[in-house]
Amino acid sequence: MKAEIVICLGSSCFSRGNKKMVGAIKEFLDKRGLTQEVVFRGAHCFSLCEHGPVIRINGNEYRKVNLSELEGILDAELGPLCAAEGDLST
Ligand code: FES
Repeated sequence: MKAEIVICLGSSCFSRGNKKMVGAIKEFLDKRGLTQEVVFRGAHCFSLCEHGPVIRINGNEYRKVNLSELEGILDAELGPLCAAEGDLST
């Protein structure tokens, strides 16, 4: 089953950081060669605006996400996919 990232594109999350997060996530997936492994899509408001910006990865919800912690979150969630690729070279 593919991994999934759902980013809230409701106006509150969008203006509080998810606008920039879209590009940062795309860049991360490109850099790690994960564009085929991960479904990345936007969604309407999750009704959690006061906790935004909100991103869901593999069903886990991340609230008040900022750009500086984004890569660590993506690494933790998607790291196993990168490791699986790495196994091929060993
Ligand atoms: S706009 Fe993201 S939870 Fe409402």
